Amino acid sequence: MAIQKTKIAVVGCGFVGSSVAFSLVTQGVCDEILMIDINKERAYGEALDLKHGIEYLNRNIKIETGTYEDCGDANIIVITAGAPPKPGQSRLDTLEMSAKIMESIVNPIMKSGFNGHFIVISNPVDIIAHYVYKLSGLPKSHVIGTGTSLDSARLKNFIGEICKVDPRSVQAYSMGEHGDSQMVPWSVVTVGGKSFYDVVRDNKERLGNVDFDALVKETTQAGWEVFNRKGTTYYGIACACVGIIKAIMYDENRIIPVSTLLEGEFGQHDVFCGVPAILNRTGVKEVVEIHMSEDELSRFEKSAQIIKINIEKLNERLK
Ligand SMILES: NC(=O)c1ccc[n+]([C@@H]2O[C@H](COP(=O)([O-])OP(=O)(O)OC[C@H]3O[C@@H](n4cnc5c(N)ncnc54)[C@H](O)[C@@H]3O)[C@@H](O)[C@H]2O)c1
Repeated sequence: MAIQKTKIAVVGCGFVGSSVAFSLVTQGVCDEILMIDINKERAYGEALDLKHGIEYLNRNIKIETGTYEDCGDANIIVITAGAPPKPGQSRLDTLEMSAKIMESIVNPIMKSGFNGHFIVISNPVDIIAHYVYKLSGLPKSHVIGTGTSLDSARLKNFIGEICKVDPRSVQAYSMGEHGDSQMVPWSVVTVGGKSFYDVVRDNKERLGNVDFDALVKETTQAGWEVFNRKGTTYYGIACACVGIIKAIMYDENRIIPVSTLLEGEFGQHDVFCGVPAILNRTGVKEVVEIHMSEDELSRFEKSAQIIKINIEKLNERLK
């Protein structure tokens, strides 16, 4: 049987796209990387820079620039093209511009015969991932938004710091919109298998008063803390994206909170939303329907509603 090559295309080679490519190369995740940007010189410069490091890495990876016609045999295409919010703008303010950019990218990619997985990073990511799903006509399992994968990592960092444990020993999800309305179902948060509520209750002297609402706010604001200091964010999201890619390429069945189409899960329909999902070579294999309290579910519904209103704005463009 012929040995299949693995190829990942990165569309948009700005701060986020080039960091995704760097993370792919340094971790040696695939055989080929295709870099595409409307600014061809930028894509070429990034590809050259990456190639120059291969000598010192653990494997040779083919890194090329190209066009959407070269995407037909890609396994995964990461979309990071977009206009990051300007100071004072929210992620939602970039919606119309991002939608136009997606039309110029997804339509020619589908003409190339692409039948793999899209991973969408461009903001506002939940709405844009839904738009890419609609434009592409691919099955829902093949279109994934990075959603609250990064927010959840940030949340786990905060909880890890409070408890003085490795954040990877914390199980916690931020869910809903990758934006201001995201919520945390605290009732399922555990540290080493112990409910975080119990950890806080049993260690009052060491931990003091833990303000759960303030932690959600810190998680939501964490991106802006980076943005306000360096003008943008890219390493964290690149690592989250490559975590998602590895779960798919290596058939890991790993659970990561991503933005995926809900069709009845948590009582939601026709909305892309950050929820824990099992990822393997089929893409999103299954949404993990954690049990939330009534209050948590109601906050999740409010967040999903904000995404839905904006999805409807783009539905006009699909007619
Ligand atoms: N989901 C997340 O958690 C997360 C985190 C960080 C950034 N982002 C988003 O990622 C996107 C990119 O951010 P960035 O900091 O890399 O921005 P950037 O400006 O550095 O890069 C964007 C790149 O997209 C390219 N581009 C623009 N229009 C294009 C088109 N029509 N076709 C091909 N390429 C095109 C630009 O030339 C540029 O190189 C933004 O939407 C930003 O909001 C998402």
